[in-house]
Amino acid sequence: IPVTPFDYVVFGGSGDLACRKLLPALFHRFADGQFDESSRILAVSRSGMAREAYRAMAAEAIGEHGSPGDHDGEVLSRFLGCLDHIHLDVTDPAGWAALADRLDRDETRIRAFYLAVAPDLFGPICEGLGEAGLATANSRVVLEKPLGYDLTSAEAINEAVGRVFAERQIYRIDHYLGKETVQNLMALRFANALFEPLWNSAQIDHVQITVAEEIGVEGRADYYEASGALRDMVQNHLLQLLCLVALEPPAAFTADAVRDEKLKILTALKPITGDAAADLTVRGQYRGVAAGGADIPGYADELGRASGTETFVAIKAEVENWRWAGVPFYLRTGKRMARRASEIVIEFRSIPHSIFGPEAGRILVNQLVLRLQPDEGVKLYLMIKDPGPGGMRLRQVPLNLSFAETFDTRPPDAYERLLLDVVRGNQTLFMRRDEVAAAWAWIDPIRASWDASRTAPHGYRAGTWGPSAAIALIERDRRTWHEEA
Ligand code: BG6
Repeated sequence: IPVTPFDYVVFGGSGDLACRKLLPALFHRFADGQFDESSRILAVSRSGMAREAYRAMAAEAIGEHGSPGDHDGEVLSRFLGCLDHIHLDVTDPAGWAALADRLDRDETRIRAFYLAVAPDLFGPICEGLGEAGLATANSRVVLEKPLGYDLTSAEAINEAVGRVFAERQIYRIDHYLGKETVQNLMALRFANALFEPLWNSAQIDHVQITVAEEIGVEGRADYYEASGALRDMVQNHLLQLLCLVALEPPAAFTADAVRDEKLKILTALKPITGDAAADLTVRGQYRGVAAGGADIPGYADELGRASGTETFVAIKAEVENWRWAGVPFYLRTGKRMARRASEIVIEFRSIPHSIFGPEAGRILVNQLVLRLQPDEGVKLYLMIKDPGPGGMRLRQVPLNLSFAETFDTRPPDAYERLLLDVVRGNQTLFMRRDEVAAAWAWIDPIRASWDASRTAPHGYRAGTWGPSAAIALIERDRRTWHEEA
Protein backbone atom coordinates (compact mmCIF):
# COMPACT_ATOMS: atom_id res chain seq x y z
CA ILE A 1 0.00 0.00 0.00
CA PRO A 2 1.55 3.34 -1.02
CA VAL A 3 2.37 5.75 1.78
CA THR A 4 1.48 9.44 1.96
CA PRO A 5 4.10 11.62 0.17
CA PHE A 6 6.93 12.69 2.47
CA ASP A 7 10.21 14.55 2.79
CA TYR A 8 12.94 12.34 4.25
CA VAL A 9 15.87 14.41 5.47
CA VAL A 10 18.93 12.27 6.11
CA PHE A 11 21.65 13.86 8.23
CA GLY A 12 24.85 12.01 7.43
CA GLY A 13 23.36 11.44 3.99
CA SER A 14 26.67 10.64 2.32
CA GLY A 15 27.93 8.44 5.18
CA ASP A 16 28.43 4.73 5.48
CA LEU A 17 24.98 3.85 6.84
CA ALA A 18 23.21 5.92 4.18
CA CYS A 19 25.19 4.20 1.41
CA ARG A 20 25.03 0.65 2.71
CA LYS A 21 21.51 0.59 4.12
CA LEU A 22 19.29 3.65 3.82
CA LEU A 23 19.56 4.45 0.10
CA PRO A 24 19.26 0.82 -1.06
CA ALA A 25 16.28 0.31 1.29
CA LEU A 26 14.48 3.42 0.04
CA PHE A 27 15.22 2.43 -3.54
CA HIS A 28 13.59 -0.98 -3.07
CA ARG A 29 10.49 0.55 -1.50
CA PHE A 30 10.28 2.98 -4.43
CA ALA A 31 10.76 0.19 -6.96
CA ASP A 32 7.96 -1.78 -5.30
CA GLY A 33 5.67 1.20 -5.77
CA GLN A 34 5.36 2.21 -2.14
CA PHE A 35 6.14 5.81 -2.93
CA ASP A 36 6.74 7.86 -6.06
CA GLU A 37 8.32 11.08 -7.28
CA SER A 38 5.98 13.15 -5.13
CA SER A 39 8.21 12.21 -2.18
CA ARG A 40 11.71 13.58 -1.67
CA ILE A 41 14.88 12.41 -0.02
CA LEU A 42 17.16 15.24 1.04
CA ALA A 43 20.64 14.20 2.08
CA VAL A 44 22.33 16.59 4.46
CA SER A 45 26.06 16.61 5.03
CA ARG A 46 29.06 18.87 5.29
CA SER A 47 30.53 17.49 2.08
CA GLY A 48 29.38 20.36 -0.14
CA MET A 49 28.45 17.84 -2.83
CA ALA A 50 26.41 19.02 -5.81
CA ARG A 51 23.06 17.38 -6.52
CA GLU A 52 24.30 15.44 -9.57
CA ALA A 53 27.38 14.19 -7.75
CA TYR A 54 25.19 12.97 -4.92
CA ARG A 55 22.87 11.16 -7.31
CA ALA A 56 25.88 9.47 -8.93
CA MET A 57 27.15 8.42 -5.52
CA ALA A 58 23.71 7.07 -4.59
CA ALA A 59 23.49 5.09 -7.85
CA GLU A 60 26.83 3.52 -7.10
CA ALA A 61 25.80 2.68 -3.51
CA ILE A 62 22.56 1.10 -4.69
CA GLY A 63 24.48 -0.87 -7.33
CA GLU A 64 26.82 -2.19 -4.71
CA HIS A 65 24.48 -2.81 -1.78
CA GLY A 66 21.02 -3.23 -3.31
CA SER A 67 19.76 -5.28 -6.25
CA PRO A 68 18.94 -2.66 -8.88
CA GLY A 69 19.37 -5.34 -11.56
CA ASP A 70 15.95 -6.74 -10.62
CA HIS A 71 14.40 -3.59 -12.11
CA ASP A 72 14.96 -1.75 -15.37
CA GLY A 73 17.26 1.29 -15.37
CA GLU A 74 14.32 3.63 -15.75
CA VAL A 75 13.17 2.83 -12.18
CA LEU A 76 16.57 3.74 -10.78
CA SER A 77 16.72 7.02 -12.66
CA ARG A 78 13.20 7.94 -11.47
CA PHE A 79 14.30 7.15 -7.89
CA LEU A 80 17.45 9.25 -8.27
CA GLY A 81 15.19 12.10 -9.33
CA CYS A 82 13.78 12.14 -5.76
CA LEU A 83 17.24 12.77 -4.31
CA ASP A 84 18.85 16.05 -3.48
CA HIS A 85 21.82 17.11 -1.40
CA ILE A 86 22.09 20.03 0.99
CA HIS A 87 25.28 21.35 2.46
CA LEU A 88 24.78 22.01 6.14
CA ASP A 89 27.15 22.65 8.99
CA VAL A 90 25.09 22.19 12.14
CA THR A 91 26.77 25.19 13.76
CA ASP A 92 26.12 27.56 10.85
CA PRO A 93 22.66 29.26 10.72
CA ALA A 94 22.92 29.73 6.94
CA GLY A 95 22.71 25.97 6.44
CA TRP A 96 19.43 25.74 8.36
CA ALA A 97 17.96 28.45 6.18
CA ALA A 98 19.00 26.49 3.07
CA LEU A 99 17.29 23.39 4.44
CA ALA A 100 14.16 25.37 5.28
CA ASP A 101 14.07 26.66 1.68
CA ARG A 102 14.17 23.18 0.24
CA LEU A 103 11.48 21.66 2.45
CA ASP A 104 7.89 21.63 1.35
CA ARG A 105 6.17 24.58 3.02
CA ASP A 106 2.98 22.61 3.57
CA GLU A 107 2.98 22.06 7.34
CA THR A 108 0.79 18.99 7.03
CA ARG A 109 3.36 17.17 4.90
CA ILE A 110 5.19 14.34 6.62
CA ARG A 111 8.79 15.17 7.43
CA ALA A 112 11.18 12.55 8.71
CA PHE A 113 14.57 13.65 10.00
CA TYR A 114 16.93 10.70 10.08
CA LEU A 115 20.00 11.30 12.25
CA ALA A 116 22.64 8.93 10.85
CA VAL A 117 25.38 10.86 12.64
CA ALA A 118 27.38 10.61 15.87
CA PRO A 119 25.09 10.87 18.91
CA ASP A 120 26.79 14.01 20.22
CA LEU A 121 25.14 15.76 17.26
CA PHE A 122 21.61 14.56 18.11
CA GLY A 123 21.05 17.41 20.57
CA PRO A 124 22.48 20.20 18.38
CA ILE A 125 20.62 18.98 15.29
CA CYS A 126 17.29 18.81 17.11
CA GLU A 127 17.93 22.23 18.57
CA GLY A 128 18.73 23.57 15.08
CA LEU A 129 15.54 22.05 13.69
CA GLY A 130 13.56 23.57 16.54
CA GLU A 131 15.04 27.04 16.18
CA ALA A 132 14.60 27.06 12.42
CA GLY A 133 10.94 26.14 12.95
CA LEU A 134 11.33 22.94 10.94
CA ALA A 135 10.00 20.52 13.55
CA THR A 136 6.32 20.67 12.62
CA ALA A 137 3.56 18.64 14.26
CA ASN A 138 3.81 16.17 11.38
CA SER A 139 7.57 15.71 11.75
CA ARG A 140 9.37 12.66 13.09
CA VAL A 141 12.95 12.18 14.13
CA VAL A 142 14.80 8.88 13.72
CA LEU A 143 17.76 8.17 15.99
CA GLU A 144 20.44 5.68 15.05
CA LYS A 145 22.45 3.92 17.71
CA PRO A 146 24.51 4.27 19.78
CA LEU A 147 22.02 5.99 22.07
CA GLY A 148 24.67 6.97 24.55
CA TYR A 149 27.28 4.79 26.20
CA ASP A 150 25.56 4.45 29.58
CA LEU A 151 22.33 5.42 31.32
CA THR A 152 23.43 8.97 32.10
CA SER A 153 24.57 9.81 28.58
CA ALA A 154 21.49 8.14 27.05
CA GLU A 155 19.23 10.20 29.29
CA ALA A 156 21.07 13.38 28.30
CA ILE A 157 20.45 12.58 24.60
CA ASN A 158 16.82 11.78 25.27
CA GLU A 159 16.39 15.04 27.20
CA ALA A 160 17.91 17.10 24.39
CA VAL A 161 15.80 15.41 21.69
CA GLY A 162 12.74 15.57 23.94
CA ARG A 163 12.99 19.35 24.19
CA VAL A 164 12.07 19.59 20.51
CA PHE A 165 10.13 16.42 19.69
CA ALA A 166 7.37 14.66 21.62
CA GLU A 167 7.89 10.96 22.38
CA ARG A 168 5.29 10.02 19.73
CA GLN A 169 7.57 11.70 17.16
CA ILE A 170 10.78 9.94 18.20
CA TYR A 171 11.81 6.72 16.45
CA ARG A 172 14.78 4.98 18.08
CA ILE A 173 16.01 2.41 15.59
CA ASP A 174 17.08 -1.06 16.50
CA HIS A 175 17.35 -2.61 13.09
CA TYR A 176 17.06 -6.12 14.55
CA LEU A 177 13.38 -5.40 15.17
CA GLY A 178 12.91 -5.01 11.42
CA LYS A 179 14.40 -8.39 10.57
CA GLU A 180 11.90 -10.85 9.12
CA THR A 181 12.55 -13.64 11.60
CA VAL A 182 12.25 -11.26 14.52
CA GLN A 183 8.84 -10.15 13.34
CA ASN A 184 8.04 -13.79 12.78
CA LEU A 185 8.72 -14.49 16.42
CA MET A 186 5.64 -12.42 17.22
CA ALA A 187 3.66 -14.19 14.49
CA LEU A 188 4.77 -17.59 15.70
CA ARG A 189 3.94 -16.90 19.31
CA PHE A 190 0.69 -15.01 18.88
CA ALA A 191 -0.84 -16.29 15.64
CA ASN A 192 -0.56 -19.98 16.55
CA ALA A 193 -2.32 -21.80 19.35
CA LEU A 194 0.46 -24.37 19.50
CA PHE A 195 3.32 -22.63 21.25
CA GLU A 196 1.90 -20.32 23.88
CA PRO A 197 0.75 -23.07 26.28
CA LEU A 198 4.32 -24.40 26.25
CA TRP A 199 5.96 -20.99 26.59
CA ASN A 200 6.91 -21.06 30.27
CA SER A 201 9.29 -22.49 32.82
CA ALA A 202 7.29 -25.71 33.21
CA GLN A 203 8.04 -26.68 29.60
CA ILE A 204 11.10 -24.70 28.57
CA ASP A 205 14.48 -25.62 29.99
CA HIS A 206 16.41 -22.62 28.73
CA VAL A 207 16.79 -20.13 25.87
CA GLN A 208 19.90 -19.35 23.83
CA ILE A 209 20.37 -16.21 21.78
CA THR A 210 23.43 -16.11 19.55
CA VAL A 211 24.47 -13.32 17.20
CA ALA A 212 27.75 -14.42 15.70
CA GLU A 213 29.54 -12.37 13.07
CA GLU A 214 32.34 -13.51 10.83
CA ILE A 215 33.56 -9.99 10.16
CA GLY A 216 35.87 -8.02 12.43
CA VAL A 217 35.49 -4.35 13.28
CA GLU A 218 35.80 -3.32 9.62
CA GLY A 219 37.57 0.00 9.92
CA ARG A 220 35.33 1.06 12.82
CA ALA A 221 37.95 0.33 15.48
CA ASP A 222 37.76 3.86 16.89
CA TYR A 223 34.02 3.68 17.48
CA TYR A 224 34.25 0.09 18.62
CA GLU A 225 37.05 0.73 21.08
CA ALA A 226 34.79 3.03 23.07
CA SER A 227 31.90 0.61 22.79
CA GLY A 228 32.78 -3.07 22.86
CA ALA A 229 30.35 -5.92 22.24
CA LEU A 230 28.31 -5.29 25.39
CA ARG A 231 27.27 -1.78 24.34
CA ASP A 232 27.36 -2.40 20.60
CA MET A 233 25.21 -5.53 20.52
CA VAL A 234 23.86 -6.67 23.89
CA GLN A 235 22.39 -3.40 25.19
CA ASN A 236 20.21 -3.16 22.12
CA HIS A 237 19.90 -6.08 19.71
CA LEU A 238 20.26 -9.05 22.06
CA LEU A 239 18.12 -7.55 24.80
CA GLN A 240 15.42 -6.70 22.28
CA LEU A 241 15.42 -10.30 21.08
CA LEU A 242 15.25 -11.52 24.66
CA CYS A 243 12.27 -9.23 25.27
CA LEU A 244 10.35 -10.60 22.31
CA VAL A 245 10.93 -14.18 23.43
CA ALA A 246 9.96 -13.44 27.01
CA LEU A 247 7.18 -10.85 26.88
CA GLU A 248 3.61 -11.55 27.97
CA PRO A 249 0.99 -11.44 25.20
CA PRO A 250 0.26 -7.76 24.52
CA ALA A 251 -3.45 -6.99 24.17
CA ALA A 252 -2.82 -5.71 20.64
CA PHE A 253 0.07 -5.45 18.20
CA THR A 254 0.32 -1.73 18.79
CA ALA A 255 3.26 0.41 19.77
CA ASP A 256 2.54 1.01 23.42
CA ALA A 257 0.98 -2.37 24.14
CA VAL A 258 4.10 -4.14 22.83
CA ARG A 259 6.55 -1.72 24.40
CA ASP A 260 4.83 -1.85 27.80
CA GLU A 261 5.40 -5.62 27.82
CA LYS A 262 9.02 -5.32 26.70
CA LEU A 263 9.69 -2.83 29.45
CA LYS A 264 8.33 -5.27 32.05
CA ILE A 265 10.87 -7.85 30.89
CA LEU A 266 13.77 -5.40 30.96
CA THR A 267 12.92 -4.36 34.49
CA ALA A 268 12.53 -8.00 35.55
CA LEU A 269 16.07 -8.92 34.45
CA LYS A 270 18.04 -10.04 37.45
CA PRO A 271 20.80 -7.48 38.03
CA ILE A 272 24.33 -8.74 37.51
CA THR A 273 26.46 -6.79 39.92
CA GLY A 274 29.79 -7.08 41.72
CA ASP A 275 31.31 -10.56 41.90
CA ALA A 276 28.32 -12.15 40.17
CA ALA A 277 29.63 -10.75 36.89
CA ALA A 278 32.63 -13.08 37.07
CA ASP A 279 30.30 -16.12 37.24
CA LEU A 280 27.60 -14.98 34.85
CA THR A 281 29.52 -13.19 32.10
CA VAL A 282 32.49 -13.93 29.84
CA ARG A 283 34.40 -11.36 27.82
CA GLY A 284 36.64 -12.20 24.90
CA GLN A 285 38.84 -10.47 22.37
CA TYR A 286 39.93 -12.03 19.08
CA ARG A 287 43.56 -12.77 18.46
CA GLY A 288 45.15 -12.89 15.03
CA VAL A 289 45.51 -16.11 13.13
CA ALA A 290 48.40 -16.85 10.80
CA ALA A 291 47.01 -18.91 7.95
CA GLY A 292 49.47 -18.48 5.12
CA GLY A 293 48.13 -15.92 2.67
CA ALA A 294 44.85 -15.66 4.57
CA ASP A 295 46.18 -14.21 7.82
CA ILE A 296 43.51 -12.63 10.00
CA PRO A 297 44.71 -9.78 12.19
CA GLY A 298 43.77 -9.66 15.85
CA TYR A 299 41.64 -6.84 17.26
CA ALA A 300 44.67 -5.17 18.87
CA ASP A 301 46.54 -5.36 15.54
CA GLU A 302 43.64 -3.65 13.77
CA LEU A 303 43.50 -1.00 16.46
CA GLY A 304 47.25 -0.54 16.47
CA ARG A 305 47.64 -0.90 20.23
CA ALA A 306 46.79 -3.15 23.16
CA SER A 307 43.22 -2.87 24.36
CA GLY A 308 40.91 -4.21 27.06
CA THR A 309 37.78 -3.88 24.89
CA GLU A 310 35.68 -7.01 24.41
CA THR A 311 34.80 -8.22 20.92
CA PHE A 312 32.85 -11.15 22.35
CA VAL A 313 30.51 -11.47 25.28
CA ALA A 314 28.48 -14.32 26.74
CA ILE A 315 26.00 -13.81 29.57
CA LYS A 316 23.74 -16.03 31.59
CA ALA A 317 20.70 -13.84 32.19
CA GLU A 318 17.53 -14.48 34.15
CA VAL A 319 14.08 -12.95 33.95
CA GLU A 320 12.68 -12.84 37.43
CA ASN A 321 8.96 -13.23 36.93
CA TRP A 322 6.29 -15.91 37.26
CA ARG A 323 6.65 -17.26 33.73
CA TRP A 324 10.42 -17.49 33.56
CA ALA A 325 11.75 -18.06 37.07
CA GLY A 326 14.63 -20.55 36.90
CA VAL A 327 14.92 -20.49 33.07
CA PRO A 328 18.34 -19.19 32.02
CA PHE A 329 18.66 -17.03 28.93
CA TYR A 330 22.17 -17.58 27.56
CA LEU A 331 23.26 -14.69 25.35
CA ARG A 332 26.39 -14.56 23.23
CA THR A 333 27.67 -12.36 20.49
CA GLY A 334 31.05 -11.76 18.94
CA LYS A 335 33.07 -10.61 15.98
CA ARG A 336 35.40 -12.86 13.99
CA MET A 337 33.56 -15.99 14.98
CA ALA A 338 33.50 -19.23 13.03
CA ARG A 339 30.64 -18.08 10.79
CA ARG A 340 27.87 -15.57 10.53
CA ALA A 341 25.01 -17.19 12.36
CA SER A 342 22.28 -15.55 14.39
CA GLU A 343 19.58 -17.55 16.03
CA ILE A 344 17.26 -17.95 18.96
CA VAL A 345 16.98 -21.45 20.39
CA ILE A 346 14.14 -22.43 22.68
CA GLU A 347 15.09 -25.71 24.32
CA PHE A 348 12.23 -27.67 25.85
CA ARG A 349 12.43 -29.93 28.87
CA SER A 350 13.02 -33.67 28.46
CA ILE A 351 10.19 -36.15 28.46
CA PRO A 352 9.33 -37.35 31.97
CA HIS A 353 9.73 -41.07 31.16
CA SER A 354 10.83 -43.10 28.15
CA ILE A 355 8.73 -46.07 27.12
CA PHE A 356 11.48 -47.18 24.73
CA GLY A 357 14.36 -49.43 25.65
CA PRO A 358 18.05 -48.62 25.25
CA GLU A 359 18.04 -49.95 21.66
CA ALA A 360 15.92 -46.93 20.64
CA GLY A 361 18.91 -44.66 21.27
CA ARG A 362 19.04 -41.46 23.25
CA ILE A 363 15.93 -39.33 23.28
CA LEU A 364 16.99 -35.76 22.67
CA VAL A 365 14.99 -32.76 23.76
CA ASN A 366 12.83 -30.72 21.40
CA GLN A 367 14.25 -27.44 20.21
CA LEU A 368 12.61 -24.60 18.37
CA VAL A 369 15.23 -22.66 16.42
CA LEU A 370 14.49 -19.28 14.89
CA ARG A 371 17.17 -18.49 12.40
CA LEU A 372 17.72 -14.76 11.89
CA GLN A 373 20.55 -14.98 9.38
CA PRO A 374 21.69 -16.32 7.09
CA ASP A 375 19.04 -18.74 5.70
CA GLU A 376 16.18 -17.20 7.61
CA GLY A 377 13.63 -19.65 8.84
CA VAL A 378 12.26 -21.76 11.65
CA LYS A 379 13.22 -25.30 12.61
CA LEU A 380 11.47 -27.51 15.10
CA TYR A 381 13.61 -30.44 16.18
CA LEU A 382 11.55 -33.57 16.86
CA MET A 383 12.31 -37.20 17.65
CA ILE A 384 11.01 -39.58 15.00
CA LYS A 385 11.39 -43.23 14.18
CA ASP A 386 14.18 -44.13 11.80
CA PRO A 387 12.45 -45.47 8.68
CA GLY A 388 12.70 -49.18 7.93
CA PRO A 389 11.39 -52.53 9.02
CA GLY A 390 13.86 -52.86 11.90
CA GLY A 391 13.08 -52.12 15.49
CA MET A 392 12.14 -48.81 17.05
CA ARG A 393 15.22 -46.67 16.58
CA LEU A 394 14.75 -43.00 17.21
CA ARG A 395 16.39 -40.06 15.56
CA GLN A 396 16.21 -36.27 15.91
CA VAL A 397 15.07 -34.53 12.73
CA PRO A 398 14.12 -30.89 12.12
CA LEU A 399 10.83 -29.80 10.68
CA ASN A 400 12.32 -27.14 8.49
CA LEU A 401 10.61 -23.96 7.34
CA SER A 402 13.00 -22.04 5.12
CA PHE A 403 11.61 -18.61 4.21
CA ALA A 404 13.55 -18.57 0.92
CA GLU A 405 12.06 -21.89 -0.20
CA THR A 406 8.56 -21.19 1.06
CA PHE A 407 8.20 -17.65 -0.25
CA ASP A 408 9.47 -16.84 -3.67
CA THR A 409 10.32 -13.24 -2.87
CA ARG A 410 13.48 -11.25 -2.26
CA PRO A 411 14.07 -11.13 1.50
CA PRO A 412 13.67 -7.44 2.40
CA ASP A 413 16.33 -5.71 4.45
CA ALA A 414 15.25 -4.68 7.95
CA TYR A 415 15.60 -0.99 7.07
CA GLU A 416 12.98 -1.25 4.32
CA ARG A 417 10.29 -1.98 6.83
CA LEU A 418 11.53 0.46 9.45
CA LEU A 419 12.10 3.48 7.19
CA LEU A 420 8.54 3.36 5.94
CA ASP A 421 7.09 2.63 9.38
CA VAL A 422 8.42 6.07 10.29
CA VAL A 423 6.39 7.60 7.47
CA ARG A 424 3.35 5.54 8.45
CA GLY A 425 3.70 6.77 12.03
CA ASN A 426 3.99 3.23 13.41
CA GLN A 427 6.33 3.03 16.42
CA THR A 428 5.74 -0.66 17.24
CA LEU A 429 9.19 -1.74 16.05
CA PHE A 430 11.05 1.16 17.66
CA MET A 431 12.35 1.54 21.20
CA ARG A 432 10.65 3.82 23.67
CA ARG A 433 12.69 6.04 25.94
CA ASP A 434 11.98 4.04 29.10
CA GLU A 435 13.06 0.81 27.37
CA VAL A 436 16.41 2.27 26.43
CA ALA A 437 16.90 3.52 29.97
CA ALA A 438 15.97 0.13 31.47
CA ALA A 439 18.39 -1.66 29.13
CA TRP A 440 21.24 0.65 30.16
CA ALA A 441 20.33 0.26 33.82
CA TRP A 442 20.94 -3.50 33.45
CA ILE A 443 24.09 -3.12 31.35
CA ASP A 444 25.89 -0.46 33.42
CA PRO A 445 26.58 -2.62 36.51
CA ILE A 446 28.05 -5.38 34.32
CA ARG A 447 30.40 -2.88 32.77
CA ALA A 448 31.24 -1.44 36.21
CA SER A 449 32.02 -4.93 37.58
CA TRP A 450 34.35 -5.61 34.67
CA ASP A 451 36.12 -2.31 35.20
CA ALA A 452 36.45 -2.95 38.92
CA SER A 453 37.82 -6.46 38.38
CA ARG A 454 40.82 -5.10 36.45
CA THR A 455 40.98 -8.33 34.45
CA ALA A 456 41.43 -8.54 30.70
CA PRO A 457 39.07 -10.26 28.26
CA HIS A 458 39.91 -13.88 27.40
CA GLY A 459 41.70 -14.23 24.10
CA TYR A 460 40.10 -16.34 21.37
CA ARG A 461 41.38 -17.25 17.97
CA ALA A 462 39.69 -15.38 15.13
CA GLY A 463 37.40 -17.81 13.30
CA THR A 464 36.32 -19.80 16.35
CA TRP A 465 33.26 -19.80 18.63
CA GLY A 466 34.87 -17.54 21.21
CA PRO A 467 36.85 -18.24 24.38
CA SER A 468 36.58 -21.64 26.05
CA ALA A 469 35.25 -19.86 29.13
CA ALA A 470 32.05 -19.19 27.15
CA ILE A 471 31.64 -22.89 26.54
CA ALA A 472 32.27 -23.54 30.21
CA LEU A 473 29.61 -20.93 31.13
CA ILE A 474 26.85 -23.11 29.69
CA GLU A 475 28.44 -26.55 30.21
CA ARG A 476 28.69 -25.87 33.93
CA ASP A 477 24.89 -26.06 33.87
CA ARG A 478 25.05 -29.38 31.90
CA ARG A 479 23.88 -27.67 28.73
CA THR A 480 25.60 -26.95 25.41
CA TRP A 481 25.45 -24.21 22.81
CA HIS A 482 23.28 -25.26 19.89
CA GLU A 483 25.61 -26.83 17.36
CA GLU A 484 24.38 -25.15 14.18
CA ALA A 485 25.31 -21.67 15.30
C1 BG6 B 1 25.27 -2.97 14.39
C2 BG6 B 1 26.60 -3.02 15.10
O1 BG6 B 1 24.29 -2.40 15.20
O2 BG6 B 1 24.88 -4.29 14.05
C3 BG6 B 1 27.64 -3.70 14.25
O3 BG6 B 1 27.03 -1.71 15.42
C4 BG6 B 1 27.15 -5.05 13.78
O4 BG6 B 1 28.87 -3.83 14.96
C5 BG6 B 1 25.78 -4.94 13.16
O5 BG6 B 1 28.08 -5.55 12.83
C6 BG6 B 1 25.19 -6.32 12.87
O6 BG6 B 1 24.03 -6.17 12.11
P1 BG6 B 1 23.57 -7.31 11.10
O7 BG6 B 1 22.24 -6.84 10.60
O8 BG6 B 1 24.63 -7.43 10.06
O9 BG6 B 1 23.47 -8.56 11.93
